This record gives sequence, C-alpha cells and structure tokens, in this order.
Amino acid sequence: MLSKASADSIQRQIEGMAAFNATPEYGTTRILFTKQELENRAYVKEEMRRLGLTVTEDAIGNIYATHKGTEPELAPVWTGSHIDTVPNAGNFDGMAGVVCGLEAMRLFNECGVSHKRDISVVVYTSEEPTRFGLSCLGSRAMSGDMLLEETKKIFDQSGRTLYDKLVELGYPVDEKYTDILKRPGDVYAAVELHIEQNNRLEKMNLPIGIVKKICAPSNYVVEVTGVQSHAGGTDMTDRRDAFAAVCEMELALEKLARECPSEYNTATIGHLEVLPNAMNVIPGKVTFTIDIRDCNWNTKQTLIEAFQSDFRRIAANRGVSISIHEDNNDAPLTCNEKIISIIEESCKNRQLGYTKLISGPYHDTLFVGRFAPAAMIFVPSKNGISHSPDEWTDYGQLAQGADVLAETLLKLANSEKAL
Ligand code: GLV
Ligand code: MN
Ligand code: MN
Repeated sequence: MLSKASADSIQRQIEGMAAFNATPEYGTTRILFTKQELENRAYVKEEMRRLGLTVTEDAIGNIYATHKGTEPELAPVWTGSHIDTVPNAGNFDGMAGVVCGLEAMRLFNECGVSHKRDISVVVYTSEEPTRFGLSCLGSRAMSGDMLLEETKKIFDQSGRTLYDKLVELGYPVDEKYTDILKRPGDVYAAVELHIEQNNRLEKMNLPIGIVKKICAPSNYVVEVTGVQSHAGGTDMTDRRDAFAAVCEMELALEKLARECPSEYNTATIGHLEVLPNAMNVIPGKVTFTIDIRDCNWNTKQTLIEAFQSDFRRIAANRGVSISIHEDNNDAPLTCNEKIISIIEESCKNRQLGYTKLISGPYHDTLFVGRFAPAAMIFVPSKNGISHSPDEWTDYGQLAQGADVLAETLLKLANSEKAL
C-alpha cells in the first residue's frame, strides 16, 4: 500500500516552478524557449534527477524522467503534462500534472514499491500555442501530426521558425527528429493529471474528475477587407465597414455553436486586429482568429462548413471581401475505458468521490491518445477559473489527485493485459 501524497511537497514544487516567471507583477508567463521556460526546464530536470529518475530529452525538447521497472522490456506507462503557460496565467495549468507525476515517483521511492513496467513522467514541449500559434507541439510531433518539414513552416512573432529555434538551442532536429515519433505499442498506457479548468467538480463538491472525452481544437485566421473611410463623411447606407461585418459573423458563429447538437462544443473569436483602429475612421480591415472545440468530429465538421458559408454570405451582403485560413482541424479523443475503470477503482480504494467528464480544453493526451491507450484525471479548479492569475487548486486537492494517479500508475505498470 502506498502512503499518502504530501500537500507540502506538492506546494514546494509548484512554488519552485512559479519562480520562473516573466511577469511577476501579474500572473505567471512562461513561454516556450524563453529564458524563464529554459530555466524551468533545467530546474525540473534537476528535481527529476534528485528523485533518482533517468532523464532524457528528445529532438523537440520533450523531457522523459523514468522510474525503472523490473521488466523494462515491456512497454512503459506514461504520465506528465506541460510547463509552458499562456501569457499572465496561473501556476497550475500543466504544472499540476508534472508535479503530481513527480510526487507519485517520490511515493514509489518512499514506500520502496517496485513495478514491472518503466513509469515515465513526460514534460511535453509547448502544449500552449502561445509562441508558434499551434498547440501541443511535443505530443503532436510524437503522434506524427507535425513532421520535420512542418517545423519550418510555423513562425513566432519575430518571424523565426520552430525549426530554427530548435537548431539554435542545439536540439538534434535533422539527425533525430524521426526518433520522436511513437507507434502503437510503444507506450502501454498514458494518464495525465490536470486541473479541471471548469467549475463542475466544485459545484458537485467532488475531488476527482475522470475524463471520458477530450474536445479538439480547430483554428482559423479570417481576414475581412472593406473600405476604410471617413466616419462622419460616409452615409450609413454607403459604407463597407469591415468591423460591422465581423460583428455579424461573430453572432452567426455564436448561434451555430449554441444550436450544435454535440454533447459539448464551443466557438470563440479571441483575437482581433482592427485597422486602422481609430475613433473617426470606418475600419477597412479586420483580422481575427476562431477557436472551435468539439468532442464529436462530425458535428464539428458540420459547424465548420456552416460558419464558412455564413461568413461568405455576410461578406457578400455587405460588399466586403473575406479570406479564411485553416491552421489546424484536430480530431477529438475518446479515453480508454479500461484505464477509466482503473482510475475509478483507485478513487474507490481511496474513498474519493468522482464523476466522469468531457474536457473542453485540449491536452497533450489528445495526441498521445493517438498512439497509446490514454485517460486523464482532473482535480477541481477554484471558481472554474484558468488561463488567469486567479487560477487556483488547493494543495490538499492536488495531493488527492496524486494519490489516485500513483495508484493508477502502479496498477498499469504491473498489468500485462491488453488495454
Ligand atoms: C489549452 O490550454 C486549451 O486552450 O485548451
Ligand atoms: Mn492551458
Ligand atoms: Mn494545460
């Protein structure tokens, strides 16, 4: 029997990582391959070594810290999450999964338990799309969804490609990129712990959520071009206002998302650039992003076709032109039923209440689940808030999550049954 996870040790680790922060005046900002993120990588590798784990890193910077099993020829069990953040984030989105994974390893050491399969805590490179406009870079590469050539086609704000940045940092991209790829059978099972980023657990007063499906994002960049002109001198009946057209598009998108028959879906226009963005000028051009999520592929594709046709109709009616560019259209994941049952059993053993949930946010597990049986454990988010300095989960609740995670990992690492 494992002893209980320590809320103090989890707090120490969360606070240890929080020190690597580009915006200490407001929340936590740790963007891929910035000084803070690189320092956090070094810190986490050091913590992994202190736990006696074997640490390796692949050509895109995914970090693997392995607790050796007695039968290392068997496929390993994975846990882990990410350490990069959105701008002005909290200290839990991503880090909770890495810290609780490491806490599970600490418990294995403390209790002297052995297990057949290797268990690895994986830190996936850049789950957030903040730097290169594309999410889950490390796990996407593992799944074969982003080949080497594609790393040369995604740019950060300074115009540098992911490929160039990896080369600059000394990652062996040309020699070792294909080694990142994982195939079915390479990983026996993967379980990621994450904060819920919603308030359902809190409302139900439950400590644990077990994820049954993960919504996948589809992202678009839309450019609407009208006629820039004088705000006072252009009759209301004679304008081609790009922003007015975009407002109508937003309402059409909202209506489609609200009426979509999916079990869970969302649609958001999150980033807008209005030109010239001046009080007395009719906007001539608006560029904006669309983020669509759905746990069902078919309803998502229907919505995507519908929004494109609505947007084109609105543009034509208003005499503005439109271009729609698709960045990604990812497939949702249904989590592995057998792993879900093992997590349920672990909750019951620990007398922790749980419910099964759909995740609206995406996670690296979305891509890991393409090559390995996978599932996720959620812990409550205070007031459901995330991607905000107000993000919070009590350390005691993280410890309860770590207990369920540790027991689940151990069961999986000793199992020989097909999942
Ligand atoms: C991940 O942070 C997401 O946007 O779901
Ligand atoms: Mn996030
Ligand atoms: Mn996350």
